[in-house]
Amino acid sequence: MSDWLEVNRANWDDRTSVHLGSRFYDVAGWLERGDGPDPYEAALLGDVTAQRLVHLQCHFGLDTLAWARAGAIVTGLDFSEPAIAAATELARRAGLSERARFVVANVFEAPRALGERFDVVYSNIGALCWLPSIERWADVVAALLAPGARLLVHDVHPLLMSLDEDGTTPAYSYFEESEPIVEDSELSYVDGGHLEHTTSYQWNHSLGEIVTALLSRGLVISHLEEHDWVRYQAFAELIEAPAGFWRAPSGTARRALSFSLLATAP
Ligand SMILES: C[S@@+](CC[C@H](N)C(=O)[O-])C[C@H]1O[C@@H](n2cnc3c(N)ncnc32)[C@H](O)[C@@H]1O
Repeated sequence: MSDWLEVNRANWDDRTSVHLGSRFYDVAGWLERGDGPDPYEAALLGDVTAQRLVHLQCHFGLDTLAWARAGAIVTGLDFSEPAIAAATELARRAGLSERARFVVANVFEAPRALGERFDVVYSNIGALCWLPSIERWADVVAALLAPGARLLVHDVHPLLMSLDEDGTTPAYSYFEESEPIVEDSELSYVDGGHLEHTTSYQWNHSLGEIVTALLSRGLVISHLEEHDWVRYQAFAELIEAPAGFWRAPSGTARRALSFSLLATAP
């Protein structure tokens, strides 16, 4: 699948403009409320004041800038130029330009594109599934972490990724495969307009593959939790209880829907 990068980038360039206008991302509300980081993630990382944090696959930067509001000096990286342009403009509108920079690059080129190491490497919901190799991603993470620095991953659980659109039946491999999961859809996962570039390629990575890739690069994992909740309505049957936690309804089987992992570099 030699064209995966170009195909996915065209798809994400289209998604960016749709997402910017969506109720799902609610950019105006985000600016007005001054949202900080996800409270669950903030509790895991603790005080980030003056820490250099890099957000891999940052989209248009809302979650990156939230860490700047918490006191970090942030760098967001994404391969979509429109996303990075929007992130830079949002930083300006939020009054955070002095503590935020955004860089256009393929995540696999991040160490060369960024040219520095960080106190925190951060990756969140809906990031790992766009990468064909978790081993190469772990190389990137290891190259970006300063000695003793921390990695926080909070992403969709590979079990959820393996289920059909109803969230009940295994439909895709739980493990990383060389061939991608091919999606062809005019709609993104948010409300709003249609995409012109409808094809996208995704790959699943099992929890064991993720953990082993990090351990084999010397990282020490201090927290690994599988959650029966996820931050968005991944399947129609999920119910929000309490706000911001989407779960399977009571009376149905509990499934792992997301996971969080905290690790420290040697
Ligand atoms: C769902 S977003 C994740 C960020 C955050 N959770 C959010 O929702 O805003 C996925 C991001 O990954 C980016 N992406 C996908 N593949 C990439 C790659 N190879 N290199 C850099 N960015 C990539 C996309 O452009 C998109 O902005």
